[in-house]
Amino acid sequence: MTSTRLEITRPDDWHLHLRDGDALASVVGHTAERFARAIVMPNLKPPVATVAQAEAYRQRILDCLPAGSAFQPLMTLYLTEDTAPEEIARAKASDSVFAVKYYPAGATTNSQSGVRELSRVHAVLEAMEKHALPLLLHGEVTDPAVDIFDREQIFIERHLLPLQARFPGLRMVLEHITTKHAVDFVTSAPANVAATITAHHLLLNRNALFEGGIRPHNYCAPILKRETHRQALLEAATSGDPHFFLGTDSAPHARETKETSCGCAGLYTAHAGIELYAEAFEQVGRLDRLEAFASFHGPDFYRLPRNQDRIMLERTPWTVPATIPLAGSTCVPMRAGDAVAWSLVR
Ligand code: DOR
Ligand code: ZN
Repeated sequence: MTSTRLEITRPDDWHLHLRDGDALASVVGHTAERFARAIVMPNLKPPVATVAQAEAYRQRILDCLPAGSAFQPLMTLYLTEDTAPEEIARAKASDSVFAVKYYPAGATTNSQSGVRELSRVHAVLEAMEKHALPLLLHGEVTDPAVDIFDREQIFIERHLLPLQARFPGLRMVLEHITTKHAVDFVTSAPANVAATITAHHLLLNRNALFEGGIRPHNYCAPILKRETHRQALLEAATSGDPHFFLGTDSAPHARETKETSCGCAGLYTAHAGIELYAEAFEQVGRLDRLEAFASFHGPDFYRLPRNQDRIMLERTPWTVPATIPLAGSTCVPMRAGDAVAWSLVR
């Protein structure tokens, strides 16, 4: 019996954490095997805040690639309240930096250098609007008075709508959206606004945090939401709407930093970075729309060429290892010890 095969244009990952040093060397191969390009997040310690730092980081990534890999890291700058508007012109003129990342200070891993008050970066946003350099938003308020499950919705109301009104031409990507509120906002937004969706938010709802006990490996930011929101994300991802594209937010953390009294946020999904999306699309009978979501909408938004080569997936299950090496430690990947329904053939 032959298994179902699916050939698509090679995809790109429009939101990825690669870390640095030995951790970078441990993980980059998974992404490079599947994706042609990835937008690389700048939340290192210290943050990647200048073009010079981004170019040095890009070289460290290239140095870690498996021999013969054509993978291209697309770099981002970490927006701080000290970012100079002139850095935006430098970024635009570079051939290495493709976006600027906004972290509300305190929202997630290494976000301490992020923005406390959006008005303090208005001059930088003006420069980005002028130079058509996309702003990638971690869209959550950090106000401790706001329920953690409402932080994305409130961010849209308090910050995103005013931002959009003030900078109507600013190119923005609402990253790793998790709610129907975000889907509705982006669906009705003009073409300069888009969103990435992770595989884990398409496949898991918040029950996955508490299956028979607390599940630290399913903890991420923004946190998993209830089933109605997962359904809205699935509908958006598989709708064919070019506002939505693939961004794994694969975020490796050492096992001991997640299995502890105050664990880090992030799921590692790069080992099955396209296969997990195939599962999600298959769930709703929409494998025919995977290619546009994974391989067309992202480059179209970023005004980059679509990839020319193709990958082949096959509906043959495989078992994810219990752990993968991560620097001197290990990382527990999504589906550890369980099956993923789709395999990468080539
Ligand atoms: O779950 C997450 N992990 N969300 C983020 O925004 C950051 C990421 C990380 O860097 O670990
Ligand atoms: Zn992220």
